[in-house]
Amino acid sequence: MACRICSGRLHRFADFGRQPVSDAFVLPGDTGEEFFFDLAVGVCESCAMVQLLQEVPRERMFHEGYPYLSSGSAVMREHFRSLAGRLLATELAGPDPFVVELGCNDGTMLATIAAAGVRHLGVEPSGGVADLAAARGVRVRKDFFEAATAASILAFDGPADVVYAANTLCHIPYLDSIMKGVATLLRPGGVFVFEDPYLGDILDRASFDQIYDEHFYLFSATSVRELARRHGFDLVDVERLPVHGGEVRYTLARRGARTPSPAVAELLAAEEAGALTGPQTLRDFAGRVAGIRDSLVDLLTGLRARGATVYGYGATAKSATVLNYCGIGPGLVSHICDTTPAKQGRLTPGSHIPVRGPEAFAAPYPDYALLFAWNHAEEIMAKETAFRDAGGTWILYVPDVHLV
Ligand code: SAM
Ligand code: TMP
Ligand code: ZN
Repeated sequence: MACRICSGRLHRFADFGRQPVSDAFVLPGDTGEEFFFDLAVGVCESCAMVQLLQEVPRERMFHEGYPYLSSGSAVMREHFRSLAGRLLATELAGPDPFVVELGCNDGTMLATIAAAGVRHLGVEPSGGVADLAAARGVRVRKDFFEAATAASILAFDGPADVVYAANTLCHIPYLDSIMKGVATLLRPGGVFVFEDPYLGDILDRASFDQIYDEHFYLFSATSVRELARRHGFDLVDVERLPVHGGEVRYTLARRGARTPSPAVAELLAAEEAGALTGPQTLRDFAGRVAGIRDSLVDLLTGLRARGATVYGYGATAKSATVLNYCGIGPGLVSHICDTTPAKQGRLTPGSHIPVRGPEAFAAPYPDYALLFAWNHAEEIMAKETAFRDAGGTWILYVPDVHLV
């Protein structure tokens, strides 16, 4: 198995077994039709990029029925509004600026750019969510971004001042084509800004559910700097973000075009000092993950034996890894409540737990709620105070199994 970035040797360090497509919520009659793959993760011994060992064909994940909505969290709506405001005030403050967003989803970020009257384009292959973006006035192209797409955007719209991607770049195995596309599309002084879950946070918190089909790469400053270098870019800024359980926003510029901020050297030094992808760090991670699985299954089995009721909260893509790796089905978690219309009335992939709307999370409350959307814990607990007031208890499994 060779590294998708540099062809170096991959060292496998965690294995989650047979897994379904994480966002493929199934209709009750269609459970015989599911696609499975082997979910295992390795690190490149040359460039330190952490990556999946098997790729799921992109059309199986990103299509007309892709259910995930960026607008599903108030915290994320504010996060993208604030980022758009910052881009408008800085990189997009010149004459007739142009910004391209890869994976714009339902247009949550670009809606602010569109409202400011700034030239923009969202590139979004998932037709259903792209239609939602278009309906709110965002200019969107239904396509996978890659080298050829970039050339045709350049021919029609001219060069971009900013290419931006949130929770999208790490979803794309074919980064060589993406980086070539960005190099084609970006103005000489432009920036490529992307934010994704940070390997350092995932290892620290043992948040193994960040590993699933769509999260093909787990980036670090070290691996992103090498990726950038191979394509004629410098890593010129990094910013730690609290969202989605800990992310980093990376800024790339053409080689020599900008002076890197001190934060870049600081994060690189911290990764080296902490032996981020060292064998001991990765062994510790794998050990903690197995421990979480055993404690969670013990807890849920004990609760069932006592006759306690347990609902899930948030039918996240992340939950696919937890449910299928731990072997948790409707016998242990009766159903999962989630606000996403395209998930409701369906079953979770592989584990077949029914998904219901948020109205199902109401009195009489269950005794316990397993919080799969733990990255939105603050937002969710703030609006669900009645659950604890009624005597309910939250179950969290990151960074360890604990009750709140
Ligand atoms: N940017 C949004 C956010 O952060 O909430 C959406 C993130 S969603 C997890 C990933 C998105 O990337 C999906 O909407 C998917 O359709 C899109 N995507 C996948 N491959 C892509 C590609 N090659 N080019 C552009 N978008 C892509
Ligand atoms: P994410 O962790 O990938 O952003 O997915 C969060 C999931 O949780 C998504 O399916 C929407 C759902 N959700 C709720 O059901 N209620 C909420 O209050 C929030 C914030 C998310
Ligand atoms: Zn490599």
